Amino acid sequence: MRQFPPDFLWGVATSAYQIEGATRVDGRGESIWDRFAATPGKIQDKSDGSVACEHYRRWPEDIELMRWMGLKSYRFSIAWPRILPEGRGRVNAAGVDFYSRLVDSLLGAGIEPFVTLYHWDLPQVLEDQGGWPSRATGDAFVEYADVISRALGDRVNRWITHNEPWCISYLGYGNGEHAPGHKDWSKMLAAAHTLLVSHGNAVKVLRANVKNAEVGITLNLTPGEPASPSPEDADATRDFDGGFNRWFLEPLYGRGYPQDVIEDHVKAGRIASPHLDFIQPGDLETIAAPTDFLGVNFYSRAVLRSNRIPEEQNAPRTVFVRPDKTDMDWEVCPASLTRLLVHLESEYKPGPIYITENGCAYSTAPSADGRVHDVQRVEYLRGHLAACGDAIAQGVKLAGYFAWSLLDNFEWAYGYTKRFGLVWVDYATQQRIPKDSAHLYRDVVAQNGLDVEQAA
Ligand code: FCB
Repeated sequence: MRQFPPDFLWGVATSAYQIEGATRVDGRGESIWDRFAATPGKIQDKSDGSVACEHYRRWPEDIELMRWMGLKSYRFSIAWPRILPEGRGRVNAAGVDFYSRLVDSLLGAGIEPFVTLYHWDLPQVLEDQGGWPSRATGDAFVEYADVISRALGDRVNRWITHNEPWCISYLGYGNGEHAPGHKDWSKMLAAAHTLLVSHGNAVKVLRANVKNAEVGITLNLTPGEPASPSPEDADATRDFDGGFNRWFLEPLYGRGYPQDVIEDHVKAGRIASPHLDFIQPGDLETIAAPTDFLGVNFYSRAVLRSNRIPEEQNAPRTVFVRPDKTDMDWEVCPASLTRLLVHLESEYKPGPIYITENGCAYSTAPSADGRVHDVQRVEYLRGHLAACGDAIAQGVKLAGYFAWSLLDNFEWAYGYTKRFGLVWVDYATQQRIPKDSAHLYRDVVAQNGLDVEQAA
């Protein structure tokens, strides 16, 4: 048996737009994902989040599932457009009440709420006024953080400001695969900056409103690893790691934006000058506001090779080394999670780290016996929990693990075609069936450890 530290926080994670449904109920305003999903060609199966898992009314059943799993904590996000339908100003009491009831019931079930403020559902009105590239959106975010932390801060002490600023800025404003769907490098960098500055400002507000607050941010970190020992592949790896990971880690830990990445942007003609004119005096200090933990979402690694060789210019830069891939085409490589955690600990000393998401998409459906034998997810989970154990053994202050996700749900641009849940959702009937992975996780939580014999 591989034991975890006594107070290790075991949980699952979800986000509002992906599970709640009820997008036009109780005064909720429109979000950028409602608008984006309604735009032809954006979502693979032409679906949207209007029904999703109907969590907005089935939440008592979902809490029951978590209680059955013995979870210590539940990471969920608040839908900003439910709280402030116009983005700022008027507070929608019905929206606040929903989360207040959820929090009370979680606490009643002995499950600690772990709240994410922004998991991608920006009020559409704020996008219409400029969205994340505009500093005004950052100010609105801080007001929203103030409103909701005043309402819930007497019962919730763990807060995540933003979920995955790389995805918000790059997918939302860079390549346009996510809402609001822009394709503009300078907008992307400005969006990332507003997100980081608003994170720093929200940290202060949360600390002021919440006693014993523990505040942090969640980054999606994908370690880059070179395909060969060649200097070209090393440089491709530096480049990938710079844009994906260091662009966020470095300013958060007080080192400013990485110069090598800025130079690459200029060389590639993505920005005109190395002077980032969206940075105002004091911003870098704000971004580096001390936090209580770092949230890490880990799914996979990227193996990089250079495509600077002329005849390889159009070859993909990311290559797959190991044969096992999930339905997302993400390589399964638990050892790289250990390497990432050890690197974060030694390089940035972020204090406690939570894995705020880790999981995999496999579509395994119920069998004739009525159960869901998601063998690959069980393997993935075991491998990654063992990798967490290895990191702890090497001195990483890992304080908790949140499996993504409690339920199969709306996987953004993929719609309902990718299933990440520990619990199967039959979208026609809304029936929930805990998969074999949920049973495994339940055992792990009960034992506060992983049966390595079983894992082998
Ligand atoms: C992460 C998101 C989460 C989910 C997983 C699969 O990037 O935070 O909402 O979609 O990927």
